[in-house]
Amino acid sequence: MDMPETKHSTPASEFLKEFPKTGPGTLAGAMLRQYWHPICLSEDLKDLPYPVRMLGEDLVAFRAYDGSVNLVDSRCPHRRASLAYGQIKENGLSCSYHGWTFDGRGRCVDTPLEPERSRLKEQVKHPWYPAQEWGGIVWGYMGTDKENPPPLPKIDILARTDGELVVQRGDVRNYNYQNFLENFADMGHVYVLHMLAPGSAPEEIQPYCDMSVNTDWRKITHRCFETDYGMKSVLVHDTATPDKKFVNTWSIAMPFYWRFGGISAGLPPDFTDDRRESGGMLRIIDDGHFEIFRYTLIRPGNFRSTFYPRASDVSRGLAEGISGLGEKKDYDYRKYPAWEGLPPVEDLVIQESQGVIPDRESEYLASSDIGVSLLRRLWRKSMEAVAQGEKPKTIPLDADGIFKVDTYKGFANQSELRLSSENMPSSEDGRGLIRDSDGNPVFTDTAGETK
Ligand code: FES
Ligand SMILES: [Fe+2]
Repeated sequence: MDMPETKHSTPASEFLKEFPKTGPGTLAGAMLRQYWHPICLSEDLKDLPYPVRMLGEDLVAFRAYDGSVNLVDSRCPHRRASLAYGQIKENGLSCSYHGWTFDGRGRCVDTPLEPERSRLKEQVKHPWYPAQEWGGIVWGYMGTDKENPPPLPKIDILARTDGELVVQRGDVRNYNYQNFLENFADMGHVYVLHMLAPGSAPEEIQPYCDMSVNTDWRKITHRCFETDYGMKSVLVHDTATPDKKFVNTWSIAMPFYWRFGGISAGLPPDFTDDRRESGGMLRIIDDGHFEIFRYTLIRPGNFRSTFYPRASDVSRGLAEGISGLGEKKDYDYRKYPAWEGLPPVEDLVIQESQGVIPDRESEYLASSDIGVSLLRRLWRKSMEAVAQGEKPKTIPLDADGIFKVDTYKGFANQSELRLSSENMPSSEDGRGLIRDSDGNPVFTDTAGETK
């Protein structure tokens, strides 16, 4: 394995500089390359090559005539023209400049401007990576053992059939992906950042909200656990009934999957009509860019939401004209005026404001940062393992190759609480849905429209 000089343990300051890196030859980049990564949606690969920058490398994905998906370096080895402008032919991807053609394993299969008997093509090796398709997504593996990649970990939500799965990509950010992940490991921010503009329950939901949920952060139990797939943060809120707790769990699976349970946003006690199970994953472009892939399972009783900053749009940051719910003041000269009021917009603005790669050595971590610290410990352990030729933290899969993460959100009796790495009751039974006092789901419109 091509590896920079390794040490048994990186000093903390060096680690803080290293762990956001993604490129080849970096400790964190080597660690990330041990995992399968999302490349694009299946539907993105039709009859044209698809340019895609991954972990600082410029690549091209293409669907061959036999339907298989392929991932190769974007630079033609002949004179460096981009294969993103190539032609998909029966025998592979053909460079449009002089016709050198490559199959999905980087073999040069044609050099049409060379003499018929030329054996040049046998010498040309073009960089390629294993690719496969699952769950409507094309995945690539950029590790060193291309002949023997690990099995693709299949995130449970993409395998679910008990609802309509909506998968979107196109939310591209101009800062390091760790700003996003650390935000997800940090549930405390919800009680400040997302409460800047007070939300209120939509009228139709109000009768089913337990207004006694105590949302005072200092009264909430906040615990973070390393799990077999990564980590999770759990918040336990008191209610007026001593035995009845309101639980919220956010999980992160290595190295870029995040997952909400029950609903995708909103504050306890679910002051939102956006009740659905959702999460997503990051396509790590390079040190300063990533793209968000979101997936949402919409089941009877769930509602659709359209408040994400963007979807299926290739421009950067917030879409022109998108802001929060605040009043736009004509003396607001900030890049994002009137930005408060929509959690995804609030997250974007704050994460971007930290800097492309924040100066973490100047941070002052405090008690609410236990999730951020745990996330960094996971990275540190995995980076060091890979530097020593071992595996990073791997995700345990079931017989179908699927991994399950804890997503529990909802009310629970004290006896049901699992304040440990163990998964709590699954939301697959619909526990997170809005119910009346007899326990029946209130909203059952599968079209997801509010009644
Ligand atoms: S540059 Fe690609 S074939 Fe010449
Ligand atoms: Fe947030």
